Amino acid sequence: MDRIKIIEVLEGISYPGHLHTQDSLKAVTNFQFQDTDILLVTFPKSGTTWMQQILSLLYNKEDLQHIQNIPTWVRVPWIEQIYFFEYLAQRKTSKPRFFTTHLLPKFMIHNLKNSKARVIYMARNPKDVLVSYYHFHKFATFLPKATSFEDFFEQFLEGKVCFGSWFNHIKEWLSVQQELDFFLITYEDLSQEPRRAIQNLANFLGQQLEPKDLESIVHYCSFSFMSQNDQLNYSIVPSEIFDHSVGKFMRKGVTEDWRKYFSPEQNTKFNNIYLGEMGDVTVKFPWSLD
Ligand code: A3P
Repeated sequence: MDRIKIIEVLEGISYPGHLHTQDSLKAVTNFQFQDTDILLVTFPKSGTTWMQQILSLLYNKEDLQHIQNIPTWVRVPWIEQIYFFEYLAQRKTSKPRFFTTHLLPKFMIHNLKNSKARVIYMARNPKDVLVSYYHFHKFATFLPKATSFEDFFEQFLEGKVCFGSWFNHIKEWLSVQQELDFFLITYEDLSQEPRRAIQNLANFLGQQLEPKDLESIVHYCSFSFMSQNDQLNYSIVPSEIFDHSVGKFMRKGVTEDWRKYFSPEQNTKFNNIYLGEMGDVTVKFPWSLD
C-alpha cells in the first residue's frame, strides 16, 4: 500500500508503482517462456479480464465452477507485476501456463521468439478504451486522478497515460506478429458474435469444443455472470486500492459507449489522429470511426 501514489517511469512510459517496480519491469526481459505457454497481450481496458476468464474456461471445461474460486489475476497473472512470481508459484502445476502483459513487445520478444508460446492480442475500439480508462482513473487509487474528461482525452491521445500510447501498443505488436504464433481478437468480435469468436480462438489453441462446452463458456464469461462473481469483478480488492464507492470494475461492458462522451470536435480530432497513426495498418478492425 505504501507505493500506491508512486508512478514508475521507464523509457518514457509510466506504470503504476503499486503494481510495478523498475526491477519487476526489467525482469520481464529475462523471463523464459515455455513452448506450451499462452500469453495474453492487451492495452489496459481492452477486455483483459474477460479474456483471462475465457482462456481459463477453455482449459477447464470439466470443472467450470472450480475456477470461479481463484481470482483471474492469479489464474492469468501479469508478467510485469511485482506479485508475478508469487502467483506463478501458486499455479505451478497448471499446464499450459497463462500469462498477461500490457507491455510493449520489446520487453519479451527475444524470449518469445525462442519458444513456441502462443500470443493472443485482444484489441478494443480505442474510443471505448479511452472512456473505460477515464472511469478507471476515478476508481483505481493507484492511478493519477483524472481532472476532467477533456484533460484525460488529450492525455490519452498524446500517449501520456500509464502504459503509453494505444496506437504504439497495437502497431508494435502487429509489427511482430509474423515472428510469433499470434492471434488477434477484438472486444467487438466477442460482444457481437461470442460463439464464433470463442470457436475461432479455440481453433487457434487447438482446443476441441463440444456445443455444450461452447454454451457453458459463453455463459460463464458473460458480463452478467462475471459482474456478479466476486472472484471476477474485483469487488474483493480492498477499497484503499479500488474505491468501490465511486464505481465498479465491471462498469458497463458494452461497445460504443464513447458516443455518450465525445463531443463532435473531440470525435473529429480523434479520427484525424487515428487515421494518421493507423493509416499503414492493413488489419480490418470491426469498429467504425463514425
Ligand atoms: P467498461 O469500463 O467499458 O465497462 P480490462 O479487464 O482490460 O481492464 O477491461 C475492463 C473493461 O472490460 C470494462 O469495460 C469491463 O466492464 C469490460 N468487461 C469485463 N468483462 C466483460 C465481459 N464479460 N463482457 C463485456 N465486457 C467486459
